Amino acid sequence: MDRYVVFGNPIGHSKSPLIHSLFAEQTGQQLSYTTLLAPLDDFAGCAQGFFQQGLGANVTVPFKEAAYQLAGHLTERAQRAGAVNTLVRQGDGSLLGDNTDGAGLIADLTLNAGISLKGLRILLLGAGGAARGALEPLLAEQPSHVIIANRTAARAELLAARFSDLGPVFASRFDELTEPVDLIINATSASLGGELPPIAPSLIKPGRTICYDMMYAKEPTAFCRWAMEHGAAKALDGLGMLAEQAAEAFLLWRGVRPDTAPVLAELRRLLAVV
Ligand code: ATR
Repeated sequence: MDRYVVFGNPIGHSKSPLIHSLFAEQTGQQLSYTTLLAPLDDFAGCAQGFFQQGLGANVTVPFKEAAYQLAGHLTERAQRAGAVNTLVRQGDGSLLGDNTDGAGLIADLTLNAGISLKGLRILLLGAGGAARGALEPLLAEQPSHVIIANRTAARAELLAARFSDLGPVFASRFDELTEPVDLIINATSASLGGELPPIAPSLIKPGRTICYDMMYAKEPTAFCRWAMEHGAAKALDGLGMLAEQAAEAFLLWRGVRPDTAPVLAELRRLLAVV
């Protein structure tokens, strides 16, 4: 049986095994996909052990940077992101590292939510790994511009400088932001603690601004609630991004991109009952 895993720590609640088993069933592929709890101090050893036999892996918190270091070859988007969420064992035994998170975000925004990003004024909240992975694919959609705002302002400035060759991208402090934008993407981990980045409601133009939280939960996240309270046209969570980044990884491993719609519907159904 072709073997795949998702590495993480903790990893017990990962939805990836369910997603990939639904993809495999749908596309008629024979494979096994399980979780693998890697030790915090030896991701590389654990991954090398797995790849004696395994064909591919996803990588999640906190190992995306370690996977970037481990991969012998990197796709251009992984190089830009500075992080790897998908590993593929190649014919010669070497590991190719890719990052499908950004492509997953774009697929969810454009294909699932039907939003064209061209010409939009985009505000990206956060300057960690999640924000970094999103920037290249966002700029490739030719928005009017992307403003990055982060609690630690220096990280936003570094990120803007790192991507400025790809399009109009600027850093800003939260308290300087007042004018409405078209799309706000929350790439901070604030929602995990039920918190909100300190953003002014005037950033939302009621009925027009779309808000997207990369996080998801059974109940709407604090950011999605804030968006709805202030009249956002849409408040979307990151469950679709999760399904889409998985579909991109599946494509890389198996050469076929599954239809995410029925899988996403099943994930929503399960999320509602847990
Ligand atoms: P990830 O890989 O998920 O992006 P990370 O690299 O730890 O994780 O980055 C977390 C991001 O969320 C950072 O932008 C962080 O801001 P700082 O750079 O100032 O630390 C942001 N963040 C986390 N908790 C937050 C909160 N309560 N309010 C605002 N921003 C928060």
